[in-house]
Amino acid sequence: MSSPEDRKIDVSMDMGKGEGDAPARPNPPPPPPKADPTASSSQEAAQATGKGLDIGTANLLSATQSPDGQTIIKVQRNAFIDIDSDDFTRNMLTKLNIQYVLVSNRMLVIGDPAFDLANVLNKETRRPMQHGLISPNEVDALPIEKLLLESVLGTPQVENEVVYFSVPAEPIDSEANVIYHKGLFEGILKKMGYNGKSLLEGHAVVFAEMAEQDFTGIGISCGGGMFNICVSYKTIPCLSFSTSRGGDWIDENVAKVLGIKSSRATALKEKGVDITNAKNREEEAIEIYYRNLINYTLVNIKQRFESSEGMPNFPDPVDIVLAGGTSMIGGFTETVRDELKSLEFPIPIREVRRAEDPLTSVCRGALVAAVSEE
Ligand SMILES: Nc1ncnc2c1ncn2[C@@H]1O[C@H](COP(=O)(O)OP(=O)(O)OP(=O)(O)O)[C@@H](O)[C@H]1O
Ligand SMILES: [Mg+2]
Repeated sequence: MSSPEDRKIDVSMDMGKGEGDAPARPNPPPPPPKADPTASSSQEAAQATGKGLDIGTANLLSATQSPDGQTIIKVQRNAFIDIDSDDFTRNMLTKLNIQYVLVSNRMLVIGDPAFDLANVLNKETRRPMQHGLISPNEVDALPIEKLLLESVLGTPQVENEVVYFSVPAEPIDSEANVIYHKGLFEGILKKMGYNGKSLLEGHAVVFAEMAEQDFTGIGISCGGGMFNICVSYKTIPCLSFSTSRGGDWIDENVAKVLGIKSSRATALKEKGVDITNAKNREEEAIEIYYRNLINYTLVNIKQRFESSEGMPNFPDPVDIVLAGGTSMIGGFTETVRDELKSLEFPIPIREVRRAEDPLTSVCRGALVAAVSEE
């Protein structure tokens, strides 16, 4: 068994440059990825650079392209746990083969192993992010995010390698500020030797899932902390916003009405419920909040599209693509179709579909943007 390596971490961060420096949209909008790169020599192939990064409340994911054109995904839970450093815990972690880092005489375990350890110790994990953004209540959030990014991204393949990272669109129902969050991550990536560029999370879904529709349609990322919506016209995001209601919002509300813990509600929700066929009181509560959330999202798209100026005409019907962990519940797509029927939607819809791999859609879309630019 290999013993965990004590590592000194650098907790000082460069701040990002802030508003005005980072483009609100990737510029120029990336064209479709080349599924089969024409680079023929192995030297050229090995130089395929550019990475995609999904910075989510629940999960952090990276996507890179191997020399033979395969997409490689790495995932870590966006969570950590800290314990007092003493000989007993040190030995226990060594026995369990759990890696840790020492910060100010505390032992920090990050990512997936933090969940295993939380179970062993009967403690809750801590979360560096809340509602899609860096958490204001978590003082250790930044150094933890840096460690987690190092774990999923690794070192740059070339100096200043481009990484497109997902950011939420401006929320419509909270005061949260995306500029600070974006600047922080630009700073962490710069410190790691990357050229970090932000990409709206809903826009990333369009890049990943709508190449065949000329990147025209509606991408919705249904996450843990929020929903991110992007209406795209030929790669250009013409309407984007986020709501601070996502999987966590469902869990909190279901927990309240059933008088149970939020973590129990999460487990109930993820165990294989079909919201078109609720079988008991718990499942009915889940269905009610899901339906409400879907209606809330669609009504907001309709209202914002109708009240915004300069929206393009969509002469042909477009698709709605659903991604993110919250879209994985049984009956989600059907319920979206159902709720859509009750609205006079301003854009003609051809099809509502779920991404083939909803959890990796955002990081794959970010990779499309990075590879196109590199
Ligand atoms: N099978 C499932 N059924 C229902 N919900 C699920 C399932 N699997 C995961 N989830 C939920 O998906 C959410 C996490 O999704 P995802 O990883 O897309 O979020 P995120 O990108 O980290 O968050 P955000 O984009 O909001 O910052 C959690 O609320 C989780 O409970
Ligand atoms: Mg997400």
